[in-house]
Amino acid sequence: MSEAVQTSSAFTPRVFSGIQPSGGLTLGNYLGAMKRFVDTQNTGVQSIYCMVDQHAITVWQDPENLRRATRELCAGYIASGLDPEKSILFNQSQVPEHAQLGWIFNCVARMGWMQRMTQWKDKAGKNSQNASLGLFAYPALMAADILVYHATHVPVGEDQKQHVELTRDIATKFNHDYKVDFFPIPEPVIEGTATRVMSLRDGSKKMSKSDPSDASRINLTDDADTIAKKIRKAKTDPEALPSDVEGLEGRSEARNLVNIYAALSETSVDAVLAEIGGKQFSEFKPLLADLAVDKLAPISTEMARLMEDAAEIDKILARGAERAREIAAPILKETYKIVGMVGA
Ligand code: TYM
Repeated sequence: MSEAVQTSSAFTPRVFSGIQPSGGLTLGNYLGAMKRFVDTQNTGVQSIYCMVDQHAITVWQDPENLRRATRELCAGYIASGLDPEKSILFNQSQVPEHAQLGWIFNCVARMGWMQRMTQWKDKAGKNSQNASLGLFAYPALMAADILVYHATHVPVGEDQKQHVELTRDIATKFNHDYKVDFFPIPEPVIEGTATRVMSLRDGSKKMSKSDPSDASRINLTDDADTIAKKIRKAKTDPEALPSDVEGLEGRSEARNLVNIYAALSETSVDAVLAEIGGKQFSEFKPLLADLAVDKLAPISTEMARLMEDAAEIDKILARGAERAREIAAPILKETYKIVGMVGA
């Protein structure tokens, strides 16, 4: 991340990323996003992290659950190591500039671009006529999230790559249509061994909060016993673990557990395989369970503690929104001027 942040355009490096408060946080969110946000924060680059509540409501959210999930996500960010003084933490709806720029981008993005989005196709499924208009327009709002801060780097998991590429297309088309060099062309940052954490029950499926099987994922709110039990029960194959990466070929469940081990222990897959190659899963799983409990249980405990003081969380979010608006408002104003809105 630190290397990536130093490269690229004339724009000052600035990091933006977001997570939907639409239910529990998983190990996938933690390793693919949150843990990497903490690493980025510690490089000193200005970092902005959002709870994207307006994205969440593109599919139905019970209002009480949405409130709880937003606060829980904020607690999760902080418990993972984000410091609300160093990074800017806020919920999207409290910075109206996102939706305002999102409208402009609705007018820049093309229907065909949106129709190609795999997440749209997956989420809308066969019943796309009944999906919300917001779900279809989702990637234009995501582009606005990033570009309203002139963010240059976007740390995400693999599954968000296509959306960041669409953001690049929107920025390019806007700059081209209005003959300006106003928006940066942001880089997706997809690094490390856990940019695609898979289901514990099926190594071909992404670990996801929407999987009906709770055993398929580790939730950041799981206690130590539950974490250990889910790892013990994770699907594997009958072979011993290989000593090199080639040996993981065609063994998606083994690869997933090794990747998780490497990410949690902050080492490379090669180093992990040098240590555990030749072991049976019956020996490896307890090692992984101990490591996961060691790293994740303190986060879950801290989240629960923070959740006891909703007023404090709300204060952190309000302050974050204020700081975010200080950056976003002048960029939106300038965008309005470029577009020709009188009064801007
Ligand atoms: P969301 O809420 O689905 O996921 C949040 C982040 O977690 C990553 N992630 C994973 N990484 C590895 N393995 C997994 N199994 C896994 N599951 C989730 C996601 O890649 C993501 O980085 N559209 C976004 C939210 C968003 C956003 C943005 C992100 C809205 N605006 C602007 C970046 C910039 C989403 O639905 O992520």
